[in-house]
Amino acid sequence: MSELNHILIGRDHSDLNKFGEAGMGTIAKQIVGEKQEAHLTNPVKIDLSRPHIIGLFGKRGQGKSYSMGTIAEEIMLLEDDIRNNMSGVIIDTMGIYWSMKTPNSNDAKLLAEWGLKPQGFDITVMIPEGHEQTFKENNIAYDATFSIKPNYLNTDDWALSFNLELDSEMGIVLQKAMRELYEEIGDKEYSIDDIIKYIKKQEFSGSAKDGLINRFIVAKDWGLFSEHGLDIHQIVRPGKMAVIDVSHFTQASGGWSVKSLVIGLLARKILDERIKARRMEESEVMEGANGKGHMPITWMLIDEAHQFLPRDGMTAASLPLLQWVKIGREPGVSLILATQMPNKLHQEAVSQADLVISHRLTSSKDLDSLSEIMQNYMKYGISDYFDRLPRLKGSAIILDDNSERIVPIKIRPRMSWHAGGSPIAIKKNEEF
Ligand SMILES: Nc1ncnc2c1ncn2[C@@H]1O[C@H](COP(=O)(O)OP(=O)(O)O)[C@@H](O)[C@H]1O
Ligand SMILES: [Mg+2]
Repeated sequence: MSELNHILIGRDHSDLNKFGEAGMGTIAKQIVGEKQEAHLTNPVKIDLSRPHIIGLFGKRGQGKSYSMGTIAEEIMLLEDDIRNNMSGVIIDTMGIYWSMKTPNSNDAKLLAEWGLKPQGFDITVMIPEGHEQTFKENNIAYDATFSIKPNYLNTDDWALSFNLELDSEMGIVLQKAMRELYEEIGDKEYSIDDIIKYIKKQEFSGSAKDGLINRFIVAKDWGLFSEHGLDIHQIVRPGKMAVIDVSHFTQASGGWSVKSLVIGLLARKILDERIKARRMEESEVMEGANGKGHMPITWMLIDEAHQFLPRDGMTAASLPLLQWVKIGREPGVSLILATQMPNKLHQEAVSQADLVISHRLTSSKDLDSLSEIMQNYMKYGISDYFDRLPRLKGSAIILDDNSERIVPIKIRPRMSWHAGGSPIAIKKNEEF
């Protein structure tokens, strides 16, 4: 049974009886008292071993990316036998999570107050194959590259990545060209040049053809495509945390829509593999065997999530992520969606979030969408909860589904280095 003074979030009674606190991570302490009087008390643990959709909110600079790192650390700190059934993928939009390899020695004193020590983590930083040169030139370390074969993308993916409406002129040319290409090449491999060839063949006057060809020429420069393709099992590995650095897809090359494409493809592949693995796990259970499926239960941690799963409009990540949100529980995929604008995050994702951690928010629209989720638990108006919080970085409120109340917390300091936040006079390639 749990110790009474631990606040356990996201674990139901039957799991608590069966597993106690195994597979949970201590991410914070409860804050008791208000503002300057506030002090830290009970450890706050969240369940990391069942599928969850975690909403992680807060206005800029309040600690979202930092907290996401804290949760990633807790996943990595789970007992071996649990962690090895799991895997994590951090979508790193700003190129800040490489630093998790380095112990946070700057905060050794602070960590000691929490009974913790600085520690680096064995993460795998992966970059798009075509970005190697840039990383080398800037002396930024990485561990591996990934790339995508053009035939992983269907017509919809291309249209979404190029921000094209399918019923626009370019969209129509794209559909016709892709249909012919599928008819003639079928499931075989093809390159972007093959697609361009099929676009050129289309009888279509006006600028749509040239416009579309240009988009594909630009796509070749994204640095994302190669004949090597993506082996999802290199990214999602039991007991490991991959950091997918998408920070170098610049605005000029398509920016957020290319990042969305990467996330969408990863999410789709992982879900497919998990569905297969789940079937195997179940038949193994039925046959009394003790084997494991190929693809571990996976956490995907997404910063700036409103860019990928927006309330209005669609990105190439929208449908795959919505699948995670809607049916992820059964195959065992979990999401952390961090955003400074919950109001801009897809309605379905907000309403399906079963764990909500929110740093301070001030805009009334964002407060409204938060109070929609929290309304059944609220004793006061939502902004009262934030007013009571001490003005400390990392303070937040969390929904406690067990006790059905909102608990003020302070997220624990990072054991590993946090490279986000305000600039520090430190270079990425220096030893520190
Ligand atoms: N739990 C925490 N403990 C200590 N410092 C924190 C904590 N959370 C955030 N900070 C500090 O606040 C800064 C900004 O946090 P960050 O996560 O980058 O903000 P956001 O992603 O919300 O814009 C961090 O660089 C760090 O210095
Ligand atoms: Mg951030």
